[in-house]
Amino acid sequence: MSYAQIRSEGTDASVRKVTAQTLVEKKYRGLPITALTAYDYPTARFVDQAGIDMILVGDSLAMTVLGHKDTLSLTMDEMLHHARAARRAVHRAFFVVDMPYGSYHISSAETLGNAISLVKEAGAEAVKIEGGQRRAALVEDLTAAEIPVVGHIGLTPQSLLRMGGYRVQGRSTPEVEGLIADAIALEGAGAVALVLEGIPRELAEHLTATIQIPTIGIGAGPGCDGQILVFHDLFRLTFGDPAKFVRCFGDAGALLRDGLEQFRQQVMARSFPSDSESYHMPREAALALEETNLSADLAS
Ligand code: KIV
Repeated sequence: MSYAQIRSEGTDASVRKVTAQTLVEKKYRGLPITALTAYDYPTARFVDQAGIDMILVGDSLAMTVLGHKDTLSLTMDEMLHHARAARRAVHRAFFVVDMPYGSYHISSAETLGNAISLVKEAGAEAVKIEGGQRRAALVEDLTAAEIPVVGHIGLTPQSLLRMGGYRVQGRSTPEVEGLIADAIALEGAGAVALVLEGIPRELAEHLTATIQIPTIGIGAGPGCDGQILVFHDLFRLTFGDPAKFVRCFGDAGALLRDGLEQFRQQVMARSFPSDSESYHMPREAALALEETNLSADLAS
């Protein structure tokens, strides 16, 4: 099925599609923007149907779904595979796809090629790239190629090796000045929104008031224009200790562990499946089968 077919099949005239423009309108009307990650068809479908404004196929999928220790090893092929699956479920939300580490670090031409693949093959409505002033030229190139860009500054997980760990950014004056310059540079280059990750709430509030494009925070306090979280953190589908900024909105991990234990016990006790969970033969065929069994018993 082509992407165009998927789109037209899912079109519901009563649903107002969220676009980059909708997010800007929300900022100006003072309405909070809701955003979550999703990496596959069922999760994206739940998130879209819940009326969340923006769905990000984040490169955090490397850790949450693929079991890697960080985001660095995620490939373009893996991202395309997951983004295509999520896209099939999304009819309302603004659909943003992360550019994996290495897919925008070599040249502008390669960046454009990779971003165009995310648009053409996975239906991305915007791509997200990490980094501030040093990415401004790329944001301009992508915007010139008609691809909306969401910027991402502060604690940028793809900078793990350079940062020497995940640590809150923007706590010293030089870092604060750098982040303000980053936000202004990305806005000037044409970014449509900015993810602010792992920065003090006071700085996030200042950036939100300084720039005209919406800010979407994760670990950046309540003063951003919107909030994003990782789906798996929201429902405790992770295996380590959650970060300080994560709030759990339901314990799906506990639900799954309990259900799995019940399944194991019921199969062991032969109480699953029951008669009502089994198919039955028509009466005559069942009698014939019984007779076959009887003659086999007599013959032996
Ligand atoms: O990949 C990701 O999960 C992100 C976060 C900002 C949500 O980039």
